[in-house]
Amino acid sequence: EKLNKKQRLYDINKEAARYFYYQLKTQRGQKALEYFKKRQITIDVIKKFGLGYANYYGDDLYKYLKAKQYSEALLLEAGIIVKDKKNNYTDRFWNRVMFPIFDVHNRVIAFGGRVLGDGNPKYLNSPETTLFDKSNNLYALNIARTARKDHILIVEGYMDVISLHQAGYNQTVASLGTAFTSGQARLLKRYTDNVLIAYDNDEAGRKATLRSIPILKEAGLTVKVLNLNPYKDPDDFINNLGPKTFDQRIENAQNSFFFELEVLNQDYNVEDPDQKTQFIRKIASKIVEMTNDIEKDNYIEAVTKNYQINKEHFINLVNELGSKVG
Ligand code: CTP
Ligand code: MN
Ligand code: MN
Ligand code: MN
Ligand code: MN
Repeated sequence: EKLNKKQRLYDINKEAARYFYYQLKTQRGQKALEYFKKRQITIDVIKKFGLGYANYYGDDLYKYLKAKQYSEALLLEAGIIVKDKKNNYTDRFWNRVMFPIFDVHNRVIAFGGRVLGDGNPKYLNSPETTLFDKSNNLYALNIARTARKDHILIVEGYMDVISLHQAGYNQTVASLGTAFTSGQARLLKRYTDNVLIAYDNDEAGRKATLRSIPILKEAGLTVKVLNLNPYKDPDDFINNLGPKTFDQRIENAQNSFFFELEVLNQDYNVEDPDQKTQFIRKIASKIVEMTNDIEKDNYIEAVTKNYQINKEHFINLVNELGSKVG
């Protein structure tokens, strides 16, 4: 009974994805195709990701699925339709380009929809459902898990994933704008030991990067951070500078500990001896947290060189702080 219902929910999502895809061939669907074209997405990639278009009319998909004998209760539960103020059923997604979200078994479990141009909200996503648990899925992991690369690239959004895959970086996944979770980190660890974070080059992106680093490390992953300057996100970067330069950025990705220190450094004026002392204490307290002695040694070596700190005194400080923590 329960399994059967889950299967019906998968079926609804699959039918909806097909429906959105076929809308691209309709007259109204042309503006979605134009939108993809404007964003330099090829037809092949549209097919590969099953991209589509949600029609302008309010209940086309609802009628289509109802005719296929799916109940309103199930369509509501799938997150495909909503009840409006007058208690009429309408589609959730209107006049948006559609991004189906797949699980690692290539089953459609949810959708993201983007407005064609400016508008609010820019992205509208399916709600969490029996099938779609945001904190335990990653966009495009179904593809990235089979990529033969020594790392997985983590980006923020649908368009970043799609542009990077199109440019050959099929090891890319997106956390879809949400805070990275330990469930997602453990999921990644099944497929790789190394991750590269390429979140947006803005304040929100940097904050999200800082929050994700300990979560990813906790799962046993080695973490590096990619520099996207002067562009705002990977999609922007790859469309402007291309894969050669992006390869260099992958090559030169920054150790996540140094990234953290660099951000921290901005809070201190190290020309001022007192502030430099505080900054050094902060660094030491982060090194205290490391559980592996070799790792500790390596970071002590690097940090004392980098910030011109007397190594012997720094080790004393680390030991002193460590004994306080116990
Ligand atoms: N997002 C969302 N809802 C929003 C804004 C963002 O779910 N209202 C998620 C989407 O998954 C989006 C990601 O967060 O892809 C990153 O957001 P943002 O950087 O604002 O968008 P971009 O992916 O850069 O979108 P675009 O390039 O299409 O403008
Ligand atoms: Mn492994
Ligand atoms: Mn962003
Ligand atoms: Mn973007
Ligand atoms: Mn972005």
